[in-house]
Amino acid sequence: MKKKVLSALLIAAMALSMTACGSGNGDSGSSGGDSAPVSDDAEDTEDAEDAEPAGDADSGDLITVGYAQVGAESDWRTANTESFKSTFTEENGYKLIFDDAQQKQENQIKAIRSFIQQEVDYIVVAPVVETGWETVLEEAKEAGIPVILSDRMMDVSDDSLFEAWVGGNFVQEGETCGDWIAEYLEDQGRGDEEINMVTIQGTIGASAQVGRTEGMANKLKEHSNWKMLDMQSGEFTQAKGQEVMESFLKSYDDIDVVICENDNEAFGAIDAIKAAGKSCGPDGDIIVVSFDSVKAAFESMIAGDLNATFECNPLHGPRVAEIIQKLEAGESVDKIQYVDESYFDTSMDLESILEERAY
Ligand code: AHR
Repeated sequence: MKKKVLSALLIAAMALSMTACGSGNGDSGSSGGDSAPVSDDAEDTEDAEDAEPAGDADSGDLITVGYAQVGAESDWRTANTESFKSTFTEENGYKLIFDDAQQKQENQIKAIRSFIQQEVDYIVVAPVVETGWETVLEEAKEAGIPVILSDRMMDVSDDSLFEAWVGGNFVQEGETCGDWIAEYLEDQGRGDEEINMVTIQGTIGASAQVGRTEGMANKLKEHSNWKMLDMQSGEFTQAKGQEVMESFLKSYDDIDVVICENDNEAFGAIDAIKAAGKSCGPDGDIIVVSFDSVKAAFESMIAGDLNATFECNPLHGPRVAEIIQKLEAGESVDKIQYVDESYFDTSMDLESILEERAY
């Protein structure tokens, strides 16, 4: 790995800049933990624009970063890719080698091996699923290349195989969703009613799926009148979300709540609900909630289709850059870094919030 020397000024600037991440609590093998519900996406974008150059673009001495991205399955993912591409620029002192794995773990493993062959300075992975990474991470370790995890977690027995992880607290997102549903039903005078739910899950085995499902399951235990009729994967895509919802509607004629494990699945589910002659949203037959809080979810809430969306912040480029800068400076980094997240529903001034939204 190339050694870079950073000025005292840069180190001081870095110490001041990282405001969006909660400190680690040492729970490296799970999809969730404690974090405060505060959203700051506009600030994150500014951080990327203001980032101090890390390598030396003029002399060509750039820090090479290989990013093994999941794919392009959702609006969230597009925003995440854009966050990396706009952060890891030559102007900022980096050379980014970007790989889109098309939601396939084997493609990500190939990409990591290719990064090792190319002797990159850092490998960043947003793992498709949590398990099955030990061998390739050992290979990176043997090659002396630090690995940083972003967005989703890996379930590895030896946490020295990666330097740090930064992402959303998926269990907490699921629990926030469950609490919101309980409060909403209570406000509607339906707190004691028998409530039938279905879940359109994300990619099975992905941290975002595992954590959100677990968080909702924790809340289901608190409400004996809630029944989860069915759960099927919509692969985090709009097309599969629609397909799964169509099949749910054929199997069950009394669905009260649809939990979609990302916004894009909800857009598909809403199309399926309307095509079946039913309605959804605050004035409709079916309550629809989802995760991510992308701009299109605000538009869907404003249109009266989606009830609520639970935030998952995708702007990890500047956060990973800060980790790299600290490692370059020989500083220690928190192993687990949760990003603060919030939620949004139709009781809020969504037009105003949307105007400020960065993704
Ligand atoms: O891992 C984050 C999840 O992945 C987002 O919720 C989803 O939209 C994406 O595909």
